[in-house]
Amino acid sequence: MPDNYASTTLHAIGNTPLVRLNQIVPPNSAEVFVKLEYYNPTGSYKDRMALAMIEEAERSGALKPGMTVVECTGGSTGTSLAFVCAVKGYPFQVVTSDAFAKEKLQTMRAFGADLVIIASEGGKITPDLIPSMREKARQLSETIGTYFTDQINNPNSMKGYSRIGQEILQQLDRPVDAFCGGVGTAGMLMGVSRAFREAHQTTRIIALEPASAPLLSTGTRGTHTVEGIGIGMVPPLLSNDFYDEVRTVDETEARQMARMLAKTEGIFAGISSGLNVTAALQLAQELGPGHTVVTVACDSGMKYLSGSLYTN
Ligand SMILES: Cc1ncc(COP(=O)(O)O)c(C=O)c1O
Repeated sequence: MPDNYASTTLHAIGNTPLVRLNQIVPPNSAEVFVKLEYYNPTGSYKDRMALAMIEEAERSGALKPGMTVVECTGGSTGTSLAFVCAVKGYPFQVVTSDAFAKEKLQTMRAFGADLVIIASEGGKITPDLIPSMREKARQLSETIGTYFTDQINNPNSMKGYSRIGQEILQQLDRPVDAFCGGVGTAGMLMGVSRAFREAHQTTRIIALEPASAPLLSTGTRGTHTVEGIGIGMVPPLLSNDFYDEVRTVDETEARQMARMLAKTEGIFAGISSGLNVTAALQLAQELGPGHTVVTVACDSGMKYLSGSLYTN
């Protein structure tokens, strides 16, 4: 039998399962498929973008052996970057906050990252939090020998995420009528949208945000606790040419959906995944039978065990 192994854990990124929802889709709806991105090594789709950002920086010569990688993150990107940096041997300095899940902060430490914590107001993601984290990361990245991955402005993240789109098209032998996803940096939504466009799909692309922070849909800033999305600014990677519509989703419904997904479909994921599926079911009802809606489960429910998501 020939060898069948991954030469490093980085090769275990991607090729995640695409699963059809069976229990929670209302009657007379389109079929709904969810790409289970928690099958990536750190339990999140961010592994794809972390690898793409680091490898593109290596290729361009901006990142060289011995340099320290710097980023500001709520913890998912940080965990993925900490993982990629650990395997490749780069020190990693991460600006984060106590507003984000403890598990994420602990995991970054486990992968050897050096954490700089910005204190939040009562554990909430207020509109000022991400800008102050970014400012701190920018200051740190002025030190010689550092490389700031700058996820919010880095178009290489989309290269990593395009593979989600390519894999979906390989996994489904039919057109995808609608694809929806919550927007943080917008890297995932834009990467998937680009892959679909390159494959000449006419998929309707729907950007999602928390209803209490409807910045993209109404220009109003607000507070919420959906980690990873609703970052208090229009992300530079979000291009009007690559999405068709923005919708808001109520955070309470998103949380209920995450719990329902675990209990009925065996999908154990985070809050943003619950938000994605809430919108996907709405789209499925609108489109009706004979159509196909796809979304993603961004990360694993394991990252949220110490919070209120799975205790209430
Ligand atoms: C859990 C989670 N969901 C959704 C997102 C949004 O993804 P993107 O930044 O690609 O828009 C993130 C990003 O940090 C995240 O951590």
